[in-house]
Amino acid sequence: MAFPQSRPRRLRRTPAIRRLVAQTRLHPADLVLPVFVREGIEEPVPISAMPGVVQHTLDSLVEEAHRCVQAGLGGIMVFGVPITKDAQGSGADDPDGILNVALARLVEAVGDDLVVMADLCLDEFTDHGHCGVLGDDGSVDNDATLERYAAMALAQAATGAHVLGLSGMMDGQVAHVRAALDAAGHTDTVLLAYAAKYTSGLYGPFREAVQSSLVGDRGAYQQDPANATEAVRELELDIAEGADIVMVKPAGPHLDIIAAAAALSPVPVAAYQISGEYSQIEAAAERGWIDRDRVMLESLTGIRRAGAQIVLTYYALEAAARL
Ligand code: PBG
Repeated sequence: MAFPQSRPRRLRRTPAIRRLVAQTRLHPADLVLPVFVREGIEEPVPISAMPGVVQHTLDSLVEEAHRCVQAGLGGIMVFGVPITKDAQGSGADDPDGILNVALARLVEAVGDDLVVMADLCLDEFTDHGHCGVLGDDGSVDNDATLERYAAMALAQAATGAHVLGLSGMMDGQVAHVRAALDAAGHTDTVLLAYAAKYTSGLYGPFREAVQSSLVGDRGAYQQDPANATEAVRELELDIAEGADIVMVKPAGPHLDIIAAAAALSPVPVAAYQISGEYSQIEAAAERGWIDRDRVMLESLTGIRRAGAQIVLTYYALEAAARL
């Protein structure tokens, strides 16, 4: 008769013991809420593919930011939804463009208490929906896009935004934008590089959120989910180019990449639980198939445990309320 000598269950017996030995804790300060602000609307507009998430008016955005401060969140990441789009994404670096106006409002309203982050990418502003400008052959022109990102970065930095989130996956974007910012005296503007950003079907709901006009996908510039060493290369390049924070995205399908980033990175590692990750949980919960709150916290805990110090999630406010 052999009974176990080793009994791991001893440390799982009561909630108090489990709490004592928990290695991963979620804290509101680690969470960042992504938000959408839409030009020309009078009331917030619900996003059908993301239950509970809306396109904000400028006023409702500021109210949401105050809620983030109240909840002790780490930051807010802002995406703009402009009325007019063109091939160059002109609204992106227009000081009167919706994103830049929103950033200035937020910095004024909550800038001392919350980190204000700006998405730095052209896809919300281009009529073709790609993250950069197109060359004659219809593909995204990397180097011409860098010039657009530099202009966008200067406009965003001028609003006082604290962090610029480079999400376009162009080669050399971190170095190019850093140089442009420094030359203009914006040496304190933080760059968060979406270093390892994978192409994904899970961006689907985001397309509705920003009313994207994209046809096709971003496979020619975002990473292939089949690859891991490529992510290491991207992370190392972005760190060498001066990224202050690096990010892995989507989070859930790429926990191994988050762990690899945490192991190699001398700068903080963030992860983005994207729109489709959120919507999958919402849809299953709506059908009564899963316990929404449990899965929400479980998914975020997994991302933290993998090694992400900062987590961008549409659940930020709700998760913070349950911690
Ligand atoms: C690019 C950008 C995207 C997301 C964040 N920044 C869209 C894309 O790359 O296709 C997606 C975020 C989400 O799905 O929640 N501006």
